[in-house]
Amino acid sequence: MKVKNICCIGAGYVGGPTMAVIAQKCPQINVTVVDINEKRIAAWNDKDLSKLPVYEPGLDKVVEEARGRNLFFSTAVDEAIDKADMIFISVNTPTKTYGKGKGMAADLKYIELCARQIARVSKSDKIVVEKSTLPVRTASAIKSILDNTGNGSDVKFQILSNPEFLAEGTAVEDLLAPDRVLVGGDTSTEEGKEAMEALVSVYANWVSRDHILTTNVWSSELSKLTANAFLAQRVSSINALSELCEKTGADVNEVARAIGMDSRIGPKFLKSSVGFGGSCFQKDILNLVYIAKTYGLSEVADYWEQVITMNDHQKRRFAHNIISTLFNTVSGKKIAFLGWAFKKDTNDTRESAAIYVADELLNEQSNVAVYDPKVEEEQMYADVDYLNTRTSEENRAGLSAYQDPYEACKDAHAIAVLTEWDEFKTYDWQKLYDQMQKPAFLFDGRGLLNIEELEEIGFVCYKIGSGKE
Ligand code: UDX
Ligand code: UDX
Repeated sequence: MKVKNICCIGAGYVGGPTMAVIAQKCPQINVTVVDINEKRIAAWNDKDLSKLPVYEPGLDKVVEEARGRNLFFSTAVDEAIDKADMIFISVNTPTKTYGKGKGMAADLKYIELCARQIARVSKSDKIVVEKSTLPVRTASAIKSILDNTGNGSDVKFQILSNPEFLAEGTAVEDLLAPDRVLVGGDTSTEEGKEAMEALVSVYANWVSRDHILTTNVWSSELSKLTANAFLAQRVSSINALSELCEKTGADVNEVARAIGMDSRIGPKFLKSSVGFGGSCFQKDILNLVYIAKTYGLSEVADYWEQVITMNDHQKRRFAHNIISTLFNTVSGKKIAFLGWAFKKDTNDTRESAAIYVADELLNEQSNVAVYDPKVEEEQMYADVDYLNTRTSEENRAGLSAYQDPYEACKDAHAIAVLTEWDEFKTYDWQKLYDQMQKPAFLFDGRGLLNIEELEEIGFVCYKIGSGKE
């Protein structure tokens, strides 16, 4: 079967870029991305490409090429489902904030709503592709809804799992040249195999077939959670060592380099930081932990949960170090944050370490002054409000956003680097220093800056994982 019309439900960080690249690489396929959020769809359709709702290097070019040709963004969900022969589900699956599994399990209500909508609308056979990261065995729930809640017409559904491995900030690159594409499906039936081949042949337009893996659905679902758990575990492992380095006089970057050259370990994901963030790592590990607990595997659950415990500790310890270094009080002191996004080259702030560090400092009545090249002020307020530690008014009184890094740092007692944006390296650090309160403290939570040069200027520096001999 040749796919002619694709519909993707969910025009977020995953759905938007993924569909844009599919459309660019497969001009013979019509791709419609739908979302219930009208503002988001309007932004995807904006003539001004700098207004796309997702900031990703290179994405504007891809959208420019395909939009209006075979890539469409729309709020007409039913219509797009009806027309499509393949439907990607790419809606969000936040951690549950209520009931059983609260704070841990994935909230699948949006997924279920999508499945019910697909069942209601469909008049012809469909291949339904799970793009959202889901707990293991969700596909069977989707299948059951699709098979049992139809509109009376005799429609057949095949469910595939096709987890997304793109990282934000490099989404376009990752989509164009993925390490692998994973397609999980019903390998036991002819119909299942045909559906898998239909999806494989979409990717085969630009990815070589030996990079496209096919597995059963459960392996595919579990592989996504496992990949994120392994990556996050590496960050927590190196962050655990960063604290030991600080105590012993070792340097975590030197340790990372030394171990990374062992080809069995490899050099990637060994950058010590103020803690990992992003929409996936914490959520996916919590999911894994919850699934393990559900099966009574408490040692397995505890093992993975420790990755999160370590990450929480790293964020808290960074904040506490600022407080204790500033003579145990930050009350009324301006502390400048360089960076708010969870990593560079994205405007995404979900679970960003900066939010948690700010929260600790705001509790100590500090004035937190933030500059981030891509994050909007309202987003910052929404992020701290989300933690529910203080009232919205208190957050607005304590936190302020700046359009200019020099203004943010003016009269500050300390600068804290929370995101590794390249532009921070190019600042006139002498000028920043001159305008600060003295002693001028600098806390580099990303190991980004040249500490020797800054110390030369006069800054009192702390760099994560760097011990004083
Ligand atoms: C989401 C999931 O969080 C992730 O686990 C998965 O791998 C891919 O999808 P992301 O694209 O980053 O990631 O989420 P988000 O940017 O929140 O986009 C989801 C979109 O779905 C939103 O624009 C939302 O409006 C839309 N949505 C949600 C619907 O269109 N219909 C719904 O019923 C629910
Ligand atoms: C991750 C996975 O990499 C991707 O495959 C999956 O599809 C979604 O989740 P993402 O969250 O976008 O992608 O970014 P990633 O580059 O993995 O970074 C996650 C967090 O870890 C960031 O806060 C980053 O700053 C931090 N990190 C990463 C480190 O602190 N040190 C490192 O060495 C690498």
